[in-house]
Amino acid sequence: KQRVLSGVQTTGNLHLGNYLGAIRNWVEGQNQYDNYFFLADLHAITVPHDRTTLAENTYEVAALYLACGLDLEHTTIFVQSHVPAHAEFAWLLSCITPLNWLEDMIQFKEKRIKQGQDVGTGLLTYPVLMASDILLYEPDKVPVGEDQKQHLELTRDLVDRFNFKFATPEAPVLKRPNPLIRADGARVMSLTDGTKKMSKSDPSELSRLNLLDPPDVIQNKIKRCKTDPVRGLEFGNPERPECNNLLTLYMLLSGKPKDEVAAECKDMGWGQFKPLLTETAIAALQPIQEKYHAIRADQSYLESVLRSGREKASEVANQTLNKVKKAMGYTLPS
Ligand code: TYM
Repeated sequence: KQRVLSGVQTTGNLHLGNYLGAIRNWVEGQNQYDNYFFLADLHAITVPHDRTTLAENTYEVAALYLACGLDLEHTTIFVQSHVPAHAEFAWLLSCITPLNWLEDMIQFKEKRIKQGQDVGTGLLTYPVLMASDILLYEPDKVPVGEDQKQHLELTRDLVDRFNFKFATPEAPVLKRPNPLIRADGARVMSLTDGTKKMSKSDPSELSRLNLLDPPDVIQNKIKRCKTDPVRGLEFGNPERPECNNLLTLYMLLSGKPKDEVAAECKDMGWGQFKPLLTETAIAALQPIQEKYHAIRADQSYLESVLRSGREKASEVANQTLNKVKKAMGYTLPS
């Protein structure tokens, strides 16, 4: 079976971008693959964090993974910080990562500007840790949203660099992963500005729909979301980014095919479409929320899931790490 790996940062409530761009696709393909999905709590501290909510956020995302439909029969769920190999490998890789590769990363440049003075070195080396997360598990596919594409490219470049330095073409040590980015949902846009992606770091709550938003909040956010004065709704008009985004949300949340949605909405006005989208979003999120609350109420179950995840993940990760250290010339403890 091919292996799939991906993760989400544990920085609070997940939004529809995380779900439609990533988690939904993990769930959909999981029966075919051997899956590893983890909680990126080491990445979560690359921005200033609150120590009193870090653990809770980790459990919350773990419960959401399960509530969204990840099935432990096919999937290993674990916490990044529970498997020390991630941090250790990140150090080794950072020593062969050219500084300018990291300085050129779009997300680093954007976040650096946003954060002003409070920028730790971890924000710069973030993609090296991400490459380590991936390469330790030798996955065939890494399903992510569009915004992670550049980080996946860096990961592939690091594989080539590592193998060139420490291996032979006949017997490469690291394996190149393939990003898996879907055409629809890979870039869910903000509800208040169709030219910006939906993001956890947007200061306005109105800009995103969170997976745990109750029905009245969903209704209010959709009521107040940005639209345009044009009647008739359409996909793909670059002059109407909000229209394309909201139709895409409706399509993905309803599960209807694109041409059906296009036909259904082509003569609609916003006054008719918004209640339809509201109803569809509430109906799509309700079962996830119900499952979430049930799972989150059983702390010992969640802990046991993460404990067995950690055991399974550690085994795979340590094997790769030993291979890497050997290739780099380290002595291995006997
Ligand atoms: P994070 O936590 O920002 O986002 C988790 C996943 O959600 C996707 N995503 C989106 N997709 C569509 N539209 C959006 N508006 C949107 N916002 C977020 C992201 O692309 C991602 O797939 N660096 C990663 C976490 C990570 C990781 C890894 C992922 C750490 N190590 C190894 C894969 C493999 C991140 O910050 O994702």
